Amino acid sequence: MHTKIKHLALTTLFFSASASLFAADLTKAYDMPEATKMIEKDMFPAAKEYTMPKSCDLNDPKAIARGKYMFHNLNGKKAKKPAPEGLVKFVEKKGKDGKVKKKPKQFGNCVACHNIEGARGAGNIGPSLESYKENFIDTKARDAQFVYQKIADPRIDNPNTHMTVNLTTGLFNEQEICDYTAYIVSDKKKK
Ligand code: HEC
Repeated sequence: MHTKIKHLALTTLFFSASASLFAADLTKAYDMPEATKMIEKDMFPAAKEYTMPKSCDLNDPKAIARGKYMFHNLNGKKAKKPAPEGLVKFVEKKGKDGKVKKKPKQFGNCVACHNIEGARGAGNIGPSLESYKENFIDTKARDAQFVYQKIADPRIDNPNTHMTVNLTTGLFNEQEICDYTAYIVSDKKKK
């Protein structure tokens, strides 16, 4: 019995001593500015509210064409048709070796999760955006500001969303969020 207690005491001493050793190491790591930078870089930025810019021209056929192109395509390499005016298929990026390389531009590929007019192999993780103008805009259930915010950062309206964050993460810029919005709220009925 006596030896058991002694053993326990020793073990406790050992573990608390090693724990404080590890703790000292971790404190050092937290104090390292490089480590802090790395942690911050990997953290997902907080949800952000946006106001649709006045420059967004939802009736501009060129904006609608760009939104459509980005909605239906994964990237500039996979996209078959030529990019519409104001959009490029390849962007120049500096590689790790410092050399500038041409890389396919990333598009939204929103059809992976959403159905919409003319979608091929659309996913159903997100709601169908077919007849969006008739069902949601004309009935005033939604407006362009809602659509813009949803695409820019869907977490404002739904903190548990499964949708991608597009503006806060810098995946797309304001003009591109405008283009997506213009496409979704546009009249897609054949005239
Ligand atoms: C990984 C799946 C996924 C992808 C990719 C995705 N979405 Fe979504 N989207 C969702 C889900 C899930 C919802 C419903 C939950 C919510 O509203 O946050 C949604 C909701 C929406 C809504 C709101 C519809 C409404 O009126 O309630 C719009 C608009 C929208 N998405 C547009 C887009 C656009 C544009 C893209 C491409 C840039 C895109 N989504 C990419 C999953 C996705």
